[in-house]
Amino acid sequence: MSRKQLAPVPPDRDLKPIHGTGHPGVIEVLRFFRDPIGMVAARRARFGDITYIKSFGLEFVIPLDADGTEAIAVNRSKAFANEPAWGFLIGPFFRRGIMLMDFEEHRHHRRIMQQAFTNTHLKGYLQDMQPMLAERVAHLPIGDDVRLLDEFKQITLDLALEIFLGLDLPRAEADRINRAFIDCVNAGLSLVRKNIPGTRWARGLASRRVLEEFFHRHLPAKRATASPDLFSVLCHAASEDGHTFSDEDVVNHMIFVLMAAHDTSTITLTTMAYYLAKHPEWQERARDQSRRLPPEIAYDTLDGFTVLDRVMKESLRLNSPVPGLPRQAREDTEICGHFVPKGTYVAAIAMVNHHNPALWPDPERFDPDRFSDERAEDRAHRYAWMPFGGGVHKCIGLYFAQMEIKTIMHNLLLRYEWSVPEDYVWKLDNSTLPVPKDRLPVRVRAL
Ligand code: HEM
Repeated sequence: MSRKQLAPVPPDRDLKPIHGTGHPGVIEVLRFFRDPIGMVAARRARFGDITYIKSFGLEFVIPLDADGTEAIAVNRSKAFANEPAWGFLIGPFFRRGIMLMDFEEHRHHRRIMQQAFTNTHLKGYLQDMQPMLAERVAHLPIGDDVRLLDEFKQITLDLALEIFLGLDLPRAEADRINRAFIDCVNAGLSLVRKNIPGTRWARGLASRRVLEEFFHRHLPAKRATASPDLFSVLCHAASEDGHTFSDEDVVNHMIFVLMAAHDTSTITLTTMAYYLAKHPEWQERARDQSRRLPPEIAYDTLDGFTVLDRVMKESLRLNSPVPGLPRQAREDTEICGHFVPKGTYVAAIAMVNHHNPALWPDPERFDPDRFSDERAEDRAHRYAWMPFGGGVHKCIGLYFAQMEIKTIMHNLLLRYEWSVPEDYVWKLDNSTLPVPKDRLPVRVRAL
């Protein structure tokens, strides 16, 4: 079996080399798509705590334990940069989004953006989303073949238009923007990465222009009056030292935040729905709790959803919507005593920790009570559970996401019961963000 070293360690550095298989990228990527958990376990058995794989024509160093993952996310020595890595994957469609910024510039933008996610604004978003989401869930189709992934995708897109944009768009215009937006997301994940007519990449570039034009057109009105939506909040947000966003910044951040918020929440909802269908006893437990809580969720009742909270955490553990945190080394550096040369791409992969039997007993089992105060298995390591990343780029929308997800699930539980055949096991498409290939067909019955 082949074993190849990523790079020789300079003689003056007391560090270890990093090994991988040296297989061609296409083989590595296909293997990963087919069985990512198995691939990580096999690599750990063979190469120990760190390896590298080839993907998208690049070599990515991947730590296989929690300390190495943490080293990348925390980036204490500032050796790792986001822009060159995320920029390579999604740059043409999401350029100048906050996740694609680094160091001082990132800090500057994050301090302004943080103003849109204060408790006061979160309370406002939560209140505004209640009637809209209750109404949307009430119109969910009923029957034997409801594709929940599609339903959640539509609900979260509509939510984004209403809560993030605060615009009452005619249906055709809303659909046009939704489509442009989906094209940008799909383009970032496409394997053909050139502007060839008819490809996902070309559609993504055209759609980016549609979104820019759309946001620039609505911007003057948003600047003129303050309203509670994210678009307006970003137009008026100022950091403690009085810095604000330019028009360009607002447009770039809006396009990025819409992307960051959308598929991630959709995948979390779909994963929760899958496990709640596979484990009706948990669905019943969550429903019991929902029935005992008010139908509208308020900021101070959110913590009452302890069952949904555990189900959500366990679902995020088993199927993390953002598979990894890619970075590039901007200088020769090291990860836990292993040499990483300048220019190397690295990635902290959530699944590496989320499915590690050294951190989680019986890791493939759906067992939300792992997150109970008594068991608290997530405290095995600071990065044992890391679906929202960590360090300075940690998800800014994690509270927003929980509010949205719990509101939708709460409404779903109160109105419907859903199920899958006992022998149904979903198959994930890992070539994009991890979604079920069949879009999760379930049987939905009104209560
Ligand atoms: C369950 C849903 C979500 C998951 C699992 C998730 C996950 C993540 C992860 C892993 C990162 C870090 C990426 C990195 O460091 O390379 C991130 C960043 C980010 N997320 Fe989320 N996210 C979710 C929902 C949201 C929502 C709802 C919003 C907006 C309302 C949002 C906005 C952002 C932004 C703006 C960043 C970039 C932060 C920065 O670079 O400073 N996310 N998210």
